[in-house]
Amino acid sequence: MTDNCFSVKSGFIRAGVMGWPVDHSLSPKVHGYWLRHYGIGGEYVRIPVAPDEFLARLKNLQKDGFAGVNVTVPHKEAALATVDEIHPLARRIGAVNTVVVREDGSLYGFNTDGFGFLENLKAGVAGFKATSGPAVVLGAGGAARAIIVTLLDVGAPEVRILNRTKSRAEQLADELSDIVGGPLIVGDWSARADYLEGAALLVNTTTLGMKNQHPLDLDLTALPPAALVNDIVYVPLKTDLLVRARARNNPIVDGLGMLLHQARPGFEAWFGCLPDVTDELRAQVLAGI
Ligand code: ATR
Repeated sequence: MTDNCFSVKSGFIRAGVMGWPVDHSLSPKVHGYWLRHYGIGGEYVRIPVAPDEFLARLKNLQKDGFAGVNVTVPHKEAALATVDEIHPLARRIGAVNTVVVREDGSLYGFNTDGFGFLENLKAGVAGFKATSGPAVVLGAGGAARAIIVTLLDVGAPEVRILNRTKSRAEQLADELSDIVGGPLIVGDWSARADYLEGAALLVNTTTLGMKNQHPLDLDLTALPPAALVNDIVYVPLKTDLLVRARARNNPIVDGLGMLLHQARPGFEAWFGCLPDVTDELRAQVLAGI
């Protein structure tokens, strides 16, 4: 047992993940591992909740005996609109993925996706600094939004957004430049390879490269050799993008760590200690994918 995760809480604690569908969520595996590993009395369960039931189920968390929940697709925006207090970062990201029930029954919402993203990069590459140069983000969905806000928050000097549907990237850039500044540059998807010039970081947040999806078609020639390449896709773990980046000696970080690291603050809030991401945890989660 690791000795750096002594829970300050007592009694049997319940938490879970609300989603629709929620069958494929890996969160129960992650939290279940930590509960066993640290010998904490509690459980983390799947809570299937249809959209029309979400509000009532969230408001009933205390009555139902929950210390809090993770919130996943399609409820992250509804959670933002429902909780009593919102962490400023969750407001900037526009989504809540972690909810804590406070002693008076009120709900506190925050977002750990950006934390997970950043911690994963730091764990993968010693001395990683977002300030070291421009970042290229492929995609303009919810994951891209959390990542772009986070990168600008920690001082990325420029973020280039490339998305198949350019208008979506433009809208995201407009909204975010008001909230977190920039500069944010939007390019044509067809010219995406040109935007790699001078980049320090490349992140794929699209579904391209995922099992049963099309591969990500991206010529890496213009990408500087020192640029870090990260794919948030983790099935497969080594996507074609990561394999090609590695082959030209770019540092790479896979996407599994983002999922594992984003779970840590919620575990700490509910169960009372900040858990570690270890090789054993990675192996156990991978075995279940
Ligand atoms: P999430 O909220 O998890 O980020 P999403 O909102 O569904 O997911 O976003 C998926 C991303 O993958 C989008 O940027 C999407 O591009 P569009 O905005 O044009 O839909 C991108 N994506 C999905 N399939 C794609 C494809 N075949 N080619 C290019 N981009 C694709």
